[in-house]
Amino acid sequence: MTSYMILKHLHMTTAYLTITLFALRLLLDAVGRPGWRQTPLRFIPHINDTILLVTAVSLVFVVGYASAMPGWLVAKIVLLIGYIIAGVFALKVTLSKPARITGAVLALVQVSAILHLAMAKPF
Ligand code: HEM
Repeated sequence: MTSYMILKHLHMTTAYLTITLFALRLLLDAVGRPGWRQTPLRFIPHINDTILLVTAVSLVFVVGYASAMPGWLVAKIVLLIGYIIAGVFALKVTLSKPARITGAVLALVQVSAILHLAMAKPF
């Protein structure tokens, strides 16, 4: 397997995991189980997201996008920043319920757009 294939598989696996782990934490909060913050679920998403980002940046160089970034990649990076910010709001226990629900919806919309851009590479 080439380094491109290894990086892409790792990137895709951690991409699907980041969505699963985010949705799981939202679900636990929604059913009144905030105790996940005292379990390994508190840090496992951060380890996963670090691998996701390291493989993302590595892919940019391995594929050769670094010199001329396609539009879908720039849009992905912008949406990723939005996803992180909205995700922080969604999981913050001190915020009001409407603020957290807004954060959750915005995070899910943005991560769906990231997935679409990654797969369709429309521009
Ligand atoms: C939550 C964040 C992200 C998700 C869910 C995600 C998801 C994906 C997926 C599913 C693919 C495979 C697409 C295919 O079928 O070809 C992919 C590829 C890729 N992603 Fe991401 N990604 C994320 C963040 C990023 C970031 C921040 C960057 C850049 C810094 C990036 C750069 C790339 C590159 C370069 C490829 C390979 C494209 C190719 O093979 O030509 N990704 N991403």
